[in-house]
Amino acid sequence: MGKLVYEKLKQNLDTFVIRGLLRSEERKHRTGGGEDVFASDITKAKTLSQTFLGVDVLIILTSKSGRRIFFYNEGAYLEQVDWIGQKNQIDATKIIGVRHIILVGSMGGRDPKHHLKPFANGRILIWKRHSELYLVDSGITYTLIKLGGLLDKEGGLRELLIANNDELLPTQMKTIPRADVAQVSVQEIPHDEVKNKAYDLASKPEGEGSSTLDFKSFFSQVF
Ligand SMILES: NC(=O)c1ccc[n+]([C@@H]2O[C@H](COP(=O)([O-])OP(=O)(O)OC[C@H]3O[C@@H](n4cnc5c(N)ncnc54)[C@H](OP(=O)(O)O)[C@@H]3O)[C@@H](O)[C@H]2O)c1
Repeated sequence: MGKLVYEKLKQNLDTFVIRGLLRSEERKHRTGGGEDVFASDITKAKTLSQTFLGVDVLIILTSKSGRRIFFYNEGAYLEQVDWIGQKNQIDATKIIGVRHIILVGSMGGRDPKHHLKPFANGRILIWKRHSELYLVDSGITYTLIKLGGLLDKEGGLRELLIANNDELLPTQMKTIPRADVAQVSVQEIPHDEVKNKAYDLASKPEGEGSSTLDFKSFFSQVF
């Protein structure tokens, strides 16, 4: 999803000076990343200070479990990426005075029967929850968006939903296209309504309801 956010920000270069992060020079080379793309492994704290120098707003989308890959290389375990790697990003940007961190996390962290619990010794959502709480307690202005499942579908076509406390998880409306999450993350940057707030984000099925276009009004539902 990082690529989608990066592309959305690139459409607003009059508003933002943007910077992308990929985990290695090899990834950067393979994806044709330009000068505004930095190669840093988030599990290695020392590599991050230079990458984040001067950053005002950080959108964290890194994960080891995003695409449901449950086999990990040494150094890429869930704890190291979804907890330590996110903590490293929060710590590195706190030092340089970041103004706002938007963290894309997961619904279900508090549900002991969640269907992801059998994987990785049941710790996928636990490590994500660790970093979510670490951000909330960090003193940095935050927005925490919690998702129930991602779809590779076109964005901008659905009515988006805001909820709390995993209440959408047992329903058919717990998923959302990656492109819509990217749009919401970017739209959040200037909106004070979402600052120091955590909420669940999902969507109605395409064709039901009306597509969400007015983000000021949408974010006014966050409490
Ligand atoms: N997928 C879902 O259904 C779901 C559900 C709930 C919440 N979420 C959350 O939504 C967000 C985006 O999910 P997604 O499915 O779009 O994720 P994704 O495609 O798997 O992307 C995660 C990114 O993190 C990067 N990454 C992993 N380890 C790294 C490291 N050590 N250093 C730097 N970068 C590293 C990956 O890079 P590489 O490509 O190099 O590995 C990848 O670009 C995540 O925060 C995820 O937890 C997803």
